[in-house]
Amino acid sequence: MSSRKKQSLIQFSSSENTLSKAQISEIFNLADGLSTGKIKGQTFQGLTGALLFLEASTRTRLSFETACAREGVHPLVFSGGGTSLEKGETYEDTVLNIAAMEPAFMIIRSGDDLDMEAVQAKISMPIINAGWGRKGHPTQALLDIFTLYKKFGSFESQRLLIVGDILHSRVAASHFELSKILGYELAFCGPTEFLPQWPGMKVMSTLKEGLEWATAAMALRVQLERHDSKYSLSEYRQHYGFTAQNLKALFADSVIMHPGPINQNTELDSGVLQDPRIQVLQQVRHGVYIRQALIHQLISGGPS
Ligand code: CP
Repeated sequence: MSSRKKQSLIQFSSSENTLSKAQISEIFNLADGLSTGKIKGQTFQGLTGALLFLEASTRTRLSFETACAREGVHPLVFSGGGTSLEKGETYEDTVLNIAAMEPAFMIIRSGDDLDMEAVQAKISMPIINAGWGRKGHPTQALLDIFTLYKKFGSFESQRLLIVGDILHSRVAASHFELSKILGYELAFCGPTEFLPQWPGMKVMSTLKEGLEWATAAMALRVQLERHDSKYSLSEYRQHYGFTAQNLKALFADSVIMHPGPINQNTELDSGVLQDPRIQVLQQVRHGVYIRQALIHQLISGGPS
């Protein structure tokens, strides 16, 4: 196996580690071939891949596990409980000890308290960021755009509206970076206190204005643990919620997305899950192919 260090941390915000548009197109082509059965998963028997989930996850963890299984890689899943973290071992020591077992790659989800880039500098195998604090969730952004590519046949002409708590969202942060690489249009909408000051970011003043503009509208989870009582959840739902009433402003041939997990009837009404424009489970399905393509490329030597 050969891997190229410079491609190892799949992250858009660092020029050292970012992927180019050509490399992402290659990943999309591979994921597309895997999804249609034109390309078969390779069998990398005898290899292990370490999946370290230091924060809760359902979709990302299980889709990486599925991707490993389809590529013949045995996943070593570490998710905290029953491990030496309970004896006070640090996150960094944990990562370094698992790296000493020589997995082919490491997939890590963590909060801001682990410096993933510093850890990457200390180990030889590639790390895939599976959601890192507020910094980014690059495979989520890739699978979102792959979903638009599969639906519309291209991503360059898409207009993605992201609604909600942009400030604390690693998904929004990764889309801000990825949109600059791939060239799709991006706009944000949400309560003023949830809007960061990113240079050049496009902000829609109302949800209606954003929905009338978008080819894809994505609701973010309201992070109830951070929610400020000065903004009631019923007010949030009225102004920013994906309700049947609010979604009348979205074109019939546009799509509705959510990275999950969903707080039903807060940012997205349960009835909207039956809307023909909804793509939530397609996003999850496509996530496996994107992650499978990334693993396949990393083991085969990295994107060219
Ligand atoms: N979208 C996403 O990252 O979901 P999980 O937290 O369940 O992995």
